[in-house]
Amino acid sequence: MLKPLFTKEEIDCAVKRLADSIEKDFDDEEILFVCLLKGSFMFLSDLIRSIKNPSRVDFMRVSSYGSAMKSKGEITITKDLEEDIEGKNVIIVEDIIDSGLTLKVIKEMLIKRRPKTLKICALLDKKACRVVEMEGDYVGLAIDDGFVVGYGIDYAEYYRNLPNICIVEEDSL
Ligand code: PRP
Repeated sequence: MLKPLFTKEEIDCAVKRLADSIEKDFDDEEILFVCLLKGSFMFLSDLIRSIKNPSRVDFMRVSSYGSAMKSKGEITITKDLEEDIEGKNVIIVEDIIDSGLTLKVIKEMLIKRRPKTLKICALLDKKACRVVEMEGDYVGLAIDDGFVVGYGIDYAEYYRNLPNICIVEEDSL
C-alpha cells in the first residue's frame, strides 16, 4: 500500500524554492548540473526548467541500494560523466540523501577533478538514516525514516512514474 507523502504541488513549490536559491547564489554564471541516475531524472528536469542561468547537464549512474530496502554501504559507479568539470560550477542533483554514502563517494571523486565550485542539491533529506556526515547545500524537503517512492524514486524499479511522493507501508514490503 502506498501512502501519499508529498503532492505534486508541494514538490513543485520545493523545486521552485531550490531553483530560486541556486539562481540567487550563481547570478548569471554558467552551471553544470550532474544528475545522479536513475532516481534524480524527474527532479533534474523540473529543476533546470526553473533556472535561467546558462546551464549544461551531464549524468552519472551510481548504485547503492540494488533492489533491497537497505543501503549496501557499497557504491558502484556504472556510468561516469562525459563532461570535463575542471573550472566549472558543478551542482550534483540528487533525489534523496539517506545514509549519505553515495554523495560522500561522488563528492570525493568530483573534487579531485578540480571544479570551480561543487554543490549538492537534494530534493529529499532523510537525516535520521545518516551513516556518514553529509549535508546538502540546497535541500528541498525533510523526511523521517520510511521507504519513499515516486517522482523518479523506485522500489525494485517500480513507481518511478508516480507524479507525487508516497511512503511504501511496511505490510506491503
Ligand atoms: C538511491 C537514491 C540515492 C541514493 C541515496 O539510489 O536515488 O541516489 O540511493 O542513498 P544513500 O544516501 O544511502 O547513499 P539507488 O542506488 O537506489 O539508485 P537509483 O537512483 O537508480 O534508484
